[in-house]
Amino acid sequence: MTRILTGIQASGRPHLGNILGAILPAIEQSKKPGTESFLFIADLHSMTTVKSPQTLAENTRAVASAWLACGFDADKNFFYRQSRLAGYHTELMWYLCCQTPYPMLANAHSFKDKSDRLSDVNAGLFTYPVLQAADIVLYHANFVPVGKDQKQHLEMSKDIAAAFNRTFGEILTLPEPLIDETVMVIPGTDGSKMSKSYNNYIDIFLPEKQLLKSIKSILSDSTPLEEPKNPETDITFKLYSLIASETEVETMRQNYLNGGYGYGHAKQALYELIMKRFEKERELFNFYMDDKEALEKKLKAGEEKAGEIARKTIQDVRNVLGFN
Ligand code: ADP
Ligand code: TRP
Repeated sequence: MTRILTGIQASGRPHLGNILGAILPAIEQSKKPGTESFLFIADLHSMTTVKSPQTLAENTRAVASAWLACGFDADKNFFYRQSRLAGYHTELMWYLCCQTPYPMLANAHSFKDKSDRLSDVNAGLFTYPVLQAADIVLYHANFVPVGKDQKQHLEMSKDIAAAFNRTFGEILTLPEPLIDETVMVIPGTDGSKMSKSYNNYIDIFLPEKQLLKSIKSILSDSTPLEEPKNPETDITFKLYSLIASETEVETMRQNYLNGGYGYGHAKQALYELIMKRFEKERELFNFYMDDKEALEKKLKAGEEKAGEIARKTIQDVRNVLGFN
């Protein structure tokens, strides 16, 4: 059985970029025969930047609801909050910390980037990659699907696990990243990468009016309605093509090229397409957001199952450390 594992931070509500770039591809992976998927909410990692317990809890619920709404089979796989198994994750993290060279962490791109941008540069940000390594090796994951931005973190995870094995014996599985180089970066409403941090994202789970408003805020040029427009450079067209069928994309391209079709029309069409394509997902998302107990039940069951595997790994690790 091949083990696939990935974590998503609870730093905000999931958006169209997260869904098309990470959530849907990971769900596809999880359906392959001979695999079992571990999918967790990295809420301990989010604590490095999110300081309000209430915000953290709300984001956690939204991220978990989005995974279930998009079709993740939590019963067949493993679905859990890292914080509820914090004892295992952080214990292993400490053992791994003692195998991690200081310069490896000090030179990590994401730490350097965050410490330049953030006013609160805490030790959690510094040791972030070691907790990530623990998240992965705790479940003996073989493959970790992540976006390109996570490449260095994954290399560090593998190096840290290998260092542990060299010292204490080959007991940890070395993980490999699964990075789909063809997955494009989904643009946000301003044309740059859609991201929670840039306030340019489309939250497909918003109530209708707010969703339409955020789609209307997509940047467009000032070509008048009656003139032909260039579909290749337009953000609304790009987003539309990511979701629409080939025929729908062709019709839209012709609308742009023919003229007499405004950006307002295209945005309305994108809104209607999102409403249609994600109708079931929107309904399920609201179901889990409203029914806290249903969501809690799925997560608790997942935490119990994942906990058994984590406990076993910790036992094995304690054994080689002489802590039994
Ligand atoms: P954000 O930039 O919104 O904070 P995260 O860093 O939490 O997103 O990313 C969660 C997952 O979603 C990662 O696997 C990342 O590669 C993917 N992802 C985020 N934004 C995009 C995007 N604009 N296009 C494609 N994938 C994305
Ligand atoms: N660092 C990842 C991100 O920001 C989240 C994460 C935490 C993760 N632990 C992980 C991803 C383990 C994969 C495996 O997107």
